[in-house]
Amino acid sequence: MKDYSRLIDRKKIPSHIAIIMDGNGRWAKKKSLPRSEGHRRGSEIIEPLMDAALDMGIRAVSLYAFSTENWVRPKPEIIGLWKLLDYFFNEKIVSIKAKGIRVRHSGFLDRLPASSQRTIRNAIDTTRENKKLTLNFCLNYGGRQDIVQAVNGWIDGRGRNERVSARDIEKRLLTAGLPEVDLLIRTGGECRISNFLIWQIAYSELVFMDVLWPDFRPNHLYKAVYEFQLRERRFGGI
Ligand code: FPP
Repeated sequence: MKDYSRLIDRKKIPSHIAIIMDGNGRWAKKKSLPRSEGHRRGSEIIEPLMDAALDMGIRAVSLYAFSTENWVRPKPEIIGLWKLLDYFFNEKIVSIKAKGIRVRHSGFLDRLPASSQRTIRNAIDTTRENKKLTLNFCLNYGGRQDIVQAVNGWIDGRGRNERVSARDIEKRLLTAGLPEVDLLIRTGGECRISNFLIWQIAYSELVFMDVLWPDFRPNHLYKAVYEFQLRERRFGGI
């Protein structure tokens, strides 16, 4: 594969990239390994990807790590993911912090085990002064549920005869404050959105890649940005 880090235009970098990290299970199966090993290897590639994101000057990366629909998976797999989350942040938070990365979370934390809630809150707290790049972990996240909670939040403060606007919803979404999602990447070869950031990607460029998540490398990220730069974005204009 070409070295895409040398081909991208450094003046046309997407502000916010959302990633559906798919293919851990298939990667493990191909290698006759347990699915948990696919998830572990999938978590190991996150930091090198953040280095590439920092190199490009990307402002935010949202990672779909667990959806509101993933609870139907076998319990051991779910418990394994929460353990992996604790392990990941225990191992990496010092270096994540040193790199100027700010951790944030989008999703419904209350259903996570108490230790995972603490892990995430601690990562958010210890990196809150960082400004270079926001790493937004989406855990127990669902796009429809996000819109519903935003509308309910608006209803709670609604004035008499007031009608909801797109702006009212936008500012209450779980991603409020992050830049617009310019680019959505899905690995693993499937071409669907799976309830990820459905409001936020209204005008995003979508890039589907036929690589299993644990095999995704920084050069794939540069390649997706290159592909993004080849697209002509019109935002409804001509
Ligand atoms: C989808 O692949 C992946 C997930 C539901 C989990 C994603 C989680 C990680 C990449 C690790 C995240 C990092 C931490 C720190 C928790 P799949 O298992 O559905 O793959 P398949 O479609 O091949 O079965």
